[in-house]
Amino acid sequence: MGRLEGAGWGGLWLLLLLWGRGAAPREAAAAAEPPLLCNVSLDSPPEQRWIPLLQHFEPGFLRAAFLRVIEDTVPKCVHTVVRPLAEEMELFIPQPFAGEIMGLCKALGLNVGDGVLLNLAYESTAFCTSIVVQDSNGVIYHGRNLDYPFGDLLRKITIDVQFIRNGQVAYRGTTFFGYVGLWTGQSPYKFTISGDERDSGKWWENAVAALLNRNVPVSWLVRDTLSEAGDFQSAVIKLAKTPIIADVYYIVGGVLPKEGVVITRNRRGPIDIWPLDPLTGGWFRVETNYDHWTTPPPVDDRRTPAIRALNATGQHNINFDTLFQVLSVQPVLNVNTVYTTIMSAAAPDKYMTKTRTMR
Ligand SMILES: *[C@@H]1O[C@H](CO)[C@@H](O)[C@H](O)[C@H]1NC(C)=O
Ligand SMILES: *[C@@H]1O[C@H](CO)[C@@H](O)[C@H](O)[C@H]1NC(C)=O
Repeated sequence: MGRLEGAGWGGLWLLLLLWGRGAAPREAAAAAEPPLLCNVSLDSPPEQRWIPLLQHFEPGFLRAAFLRVIEDTVPKCVHTVVRPLAEEMELFIPQPFAGEIMGLCKALGLNVGDGVLLNLAYESTAFCTSIVVQDSNGVIYHGRNLDYPFGDLLRKITIDVQFIRNGQVAYRGTTFFGYVGLWTGQSPYKFTISGDERDSGKWWENAVAALLNRNVPVSWLVRDTLSEAGDFQSAVIKLAKTPIIADVYYIVGGVLPKEGVVITRNRRGPIDIWPLDPLTGGWFRVETNYDHWTTPPPVDDRRTPAIRALNATGQHNINFDTLFQVLSVQPVLNVNTVYTTIMSAAAPDKYMTKTRTMR
């Protein structure tokens, strides 16, 4: 709902802007900026590893931003359930996530319950478009837009993080400072993952119940998989089978031809596995926030424009730049788009994120 309202206001604003100029260009200009690139050391204790990044942000701004996201996203009844439970967080939140949230809250003077709520809040409303493609040479590319209300806040705290273990980049991902999960990430020379929300109603009731049952948030499973899975196949199995707190789509890209898949999940396990099928024309898979075997609602069809743009680009022309252009076509790119990431696990240094602002 927030997303649609946002789109409505954005659309009105755009109309006023165009009217003011007396011109009607088909494409609105969109600023694209690289986010802060930073290192987080997995060799430091969880409580301490995010603290060095605080130097890049104004603590008062962070506290106000976090509280606003919580207030506007988390239903009041959930506050009263989760805040007291946070005292015993260790019992139902696994490491390293419990330690990382606690360390951040302590450094910022926030209640630990709010730290947990903030991390859940970001889980609940991520509308997105993810695309995995194979070019004519068998190279796999993976791109995603992350759409979220509060774009103005979130663009300022979007970060590309390299997680360092023994002096090497173990994996990397894109997130918001304060959010310890990943919706987007890459295990170098192995695989890439993005997650798109799959709304099945009653999100908060079901997610909190599942959390207390020790299911993990969907973005924590992404991080665990990046950290632990040895290759594309084992990543797909882990993402498909591990119990999680909410339904989701996981999109995974690998390093070999045909290594690309959309996994449709409920909280317990996979509902559908939809792999690339390049030999019979399935050289890309597009996932937004609707089951791929259904038709997206006309008010939120980002799938058809993405497919049209991929068709127009052609398999032999797909690369980092052209996939970025596909993700820049409206309404695939929209006023709520916070960032675009393009990645290819076989070329990990080319991982690219841009925060997006439609003007
Ligand atoms: C991050 O760590 C890597 C690997 O140790 C290093 O090469 C790089 O310079 C570091 N980057 C930053 C921004 O500190
Ligand atoms: C994309 O191309 C395929 C194969 O030619 C075609 O079946 C499909 O209708 C096209 N989709 C769009 C949205 O253009």
